[in-house]
Amino acid sequence: MTQQKARHVPVLFQEVMDFIRVRPGGTTVDCTLGLAGHAEGIVRQLGSAGHFIGFDRDPEALGLARTRLSRVCEELGSEAPRVTLIGEAFSTIAEHVAQHSVDGLLADFGASSLHFDEARRGFSFQADGPLDMRMDTRSGSTAEQVVNEMGERELANLIYEYGEERRSRTVARAIVRGRPVTSTAQLARIVASAVPPMKFIHPATRTFQALRIFVNQELQEIRALFEAAPQLLKPSGRFVVISFHSLEDRIAKDSIREGAQKGIWKVLTRKPVTATEDEINRNPRSRSAKLRAAERQ
Ligand SMILES: C[S@@+](CC[C@H](N)C(=O)[O-])C[C@H]1O[C@@H](n2cnc3c(N)ncnc32)[C@H](O)[C@@H]1O
Repeated sequence: MTQQKARHVPVLFQEVMDFIRVRPGGTTVDCTLGLAGHAEGIVRQLGSAGHFIGFDRDPEALGLARTRLSRVCEELGSEAPRVTLIGEAFSTIAEHVAQHSVDGLLADFGASSLHFDEARRGFSFQADGPLDMRMDTRSGSTAEQVVNEMGERELANLIYEYGEERRSRTVARAIVRGRPVTSTAQLARIVASAVPPMKFIHPATRTFQALRIFVNQELQEIRALFEAAPQLLKPSGRFVVISFHSLEDRIAKDSIREGAQKGIWKVLTRKPVTATEDEINRNPRSRSAKLRAAERQ
């Protein structure tokens, strides 16, 4: 493990453990293994009769999670639960997990520190790398294909919708003029030269977010998970989600509220749970995390 990968810290760890309330001997699903920080906490509590199921569509993350969880299970010996890891998008969850079989369902949305810290994955405007941004590196269009092949108007709409960037038309025009765009640093430069400097964030932040969401179909994935979740959970089973920006959180908030009105969910978090000052100091990425939890009625 490199220094950068070792730096990964799971956000709102204790809060996740409190809300997911792992039932020894039960089944808990982590839809977003990442580097298995939350997963390790869950696996340690499931007991030998328990079953842990983990998803990650990124083959590299899945490999790292597998190594970490194998070590934990080795350490637990006869107390280790059964572990099943699935290298697919969590929107396929209903194909892999039986109905009404789950006690706890966790999803910690978005990209991981593995994505942001490794320049070669193309997620970061702070380091130069190929413009890839795919979590699942086995298929789908890269960000490079999107910025070079999409029409200007469509690109502007994408940047507006998924990046909430008010200057989306200016940005899209600059990108089209700057083609071919092949690296993260080149894209960051083009965007920074098209819009005025910003006080708190790099001017390319929103454009990068928009491309990442589009390339990975992130919002469609989240909607599909919210549709599948009620059928998967047992009565009193818990669903815990962590979002990192308003587009994700809006889906979580609206889906839980609508589900509560239909008698599907009991809301456990009237307001989203956020990180303490102490956690934010230790792990700045936790600053924008919002946890929402619901219990299956
Ligand atoms: C924020 S990280 C999770 C970190 C993890 N909770 C931990 O403790 O290390 C999100 C992970 O979910 C994966 N992911 C994101 N969207 C996904 C999807 N739709 N299906 C499967 N995996 C997804 C990403 O590849 C990434 O590894």
